[in-house]
Amino acid sequence: MRRAKISIIGAGNVGATAAHWAASKELGDIVLVDVPQVDGMPQGKALDLYEASPIEGYDSKIIGATNYEATKDSDVVIVTAGVARKPGMSRDDLININTGIVKSVAENVAKYSPNAVMIVVSNPLDAMVYVAWKASGFPTQRIVGQAGVLDTARYRSFLAEEVGCSVEDVQALLLGGHGDDMVPLKRYTFAGGIPITQLVKPDRLEQIIQRARDGGAEIVKLLKTGSAYYAPAAATVQMAESIIRDKKRILPCAAYCDKEFGIGGYFVGVPCVLGTKGVERVIEVELDEAEHKMFQASVDHVKELVKNIKI
Ligand code: LAC
Repeated sequence: MRRAKISIIGAGNVGATAAHWAASKELGDIVLVDVPQVDGMPQGKALDLYEASPIEGYDSKIIGATNYEATKDSDVVIVTAGVARKPGMSRDDLININTGIVKSVAENVAKYSPNAVMIVVSNPLDAMVYVAWKASGFPTQRIVGQAGVLDTARYRSFLAEEVGCSVEDVQALLLGGHGDDMVPLKRYTFAGGIPITQLVKPDRLEQIIQRARDGGAEIVKLLKTGSAYYAPAAATVQMAESIIRDKKRILPCAAYCDKEFGIGGYFVGVPCVLGTKGVERVIEVELDEAEHKMFQASVDHVKELVKNIKI
């Protein structure tokens, strides 16, 4: 059987860490790409990671490159390229610079890997998935953005700490854009099958929801020189695994929604089934009035962002 080929565009912290998680899960062969100005850097990181393979026991070919030829015929391409925010910046502040970068990356992905599923990680996420879609001309099913898996992971980890239970037992759903107005849904949050509202007091739950919303900014403030990368990279690789192994996991991802939730042609965070074909299904969940209002506010924010981009 041919091994899957995964290309990661952007060999910075998120890209290199994604390569690490993907290798440790033996997801396939990995190509780590960055721009010619930093020639040697992606090659060095890739070689270093490959040299760890006899110790960790993964049989993956791992190479670095500063050209797209090396990515030819990838099954999955992960786009992390772009600038990360600094303290005091919002994700939206990155829009102008990252639009140009993501556009050029997506054009090259379409040229060299026309059948790939593209996972976009660059910020502001919901707008960058849109840019990648337009620039690649890919069918919407093969473009997906990573955000919900990261945001729910933050929410789940804080809840597990609060409840005093395993992180594995906390299940949660979160909708909307990857911004401060993302919508963690209390009604769809459980610990070991028990509704979270039976385990965590309302005030405390609100505090945890807010901390999850601010999770990205909390790390930026601590790091001072960039943004989070372990959890974003782990989240991305979980999506890639579901696609490559056709696991059909239901994960919250930025997927194209037209009739779904009545969104009308934008990428926003919704529950998706991820398999070999990419986003195989968007699952519409019932929302009460308050949830719907919050979701709509987040979707409106995404629409506003997208309207302002010049592709
Ligand atoms: C975060 C950034 C990477 O949420 O969007 O950490």
